[in-house]
Amino acid sequence: MPEATQDELKSRVAVRALDFVQEGMRLGLGTGTTAKLFVAHLAERVRGGLNVVGVPTSEATRAQAEAAGIPLTTLDDTPELDLVVDGADEFDPELRLIKGGGGALLREKIVAAASRRMVVITDVSKRVEVLGRFPLPVEVNRFGLGATTRQVEAAFQRLGLAGAVSLRLDKTLSDPFVTDGGHHILDCRLGAIPEPERLAEALVNIPGVVEHGLFIGLATTVIMADASQTYVIGR
Ligand code: 5RP
Repeated sequence: MPEATQDELKSRVAVRALDFVQEGMRLGLGTGTTAKLFVAHLAERVRGGLNVVGVPTSEATRAQAEAAGIPLTTLDDTPELDLVVDGADEFDPELRLIKGGGGALLREKIVAAASRRMVVITDVSKRVEVLGRFPLPVEVNRFGLGATTRQVEAAFQRLGLAGAVSLRLDKTLSDPFVTDGGHHILDCRLGAIPEPERLAEALVNIPGVVEHGLFIGLATTVIMADASQTYVIGR
């Protein structure tokens, strides 16, 4: 039997996540290639009569959901959500995550924090023992970028983390990437983050850091697929 492609694994977890969706739910809609598949499958169910309402975590997801006919709301009108389904760049055995590879970490974290349950959909390549193989995205205000970057680097040094920090560029590779919130992103190559909680605390205390891609205590469930099986980890 041929090996499943990464796209097939992503599609499998996206379909599996539909099992967590119930009639009448208020849903957070994630961002990224895996979440995009989930939104597409959800839209099919909506066309078939499922009644849900969604809060998108990015303008890209908003455009997809709107075009596909999923009713949308905002966290102002609907401040509490039942479930968010989103992808991740990494997860560890404690279901701590690195997110933000797609640049949507700020809205993704706000939506996750507003949700009773966070189901993460991934393929097996995102599983790590220790977070940090994927560069940690840190969203920063454009004002004072140089000073904020130095403070981020100093925080890594204080924590004994060897970090190479680079400003994320957009597709043209000549301009900085700009998030939906109008900020920039620092991608921080740390190799390993043995104490994610300590790092998260240090980063949120730096003026100019808007949000970081460590999602701690938010994911309740990870649905992960490898070539042979789909696993549901957590509750
Ligand atoms: C976007 C994210 C994505 O969920 C993460 O990058 C995973 O994306 P993909 O499903 O395309 O691998 O955090 O900010």
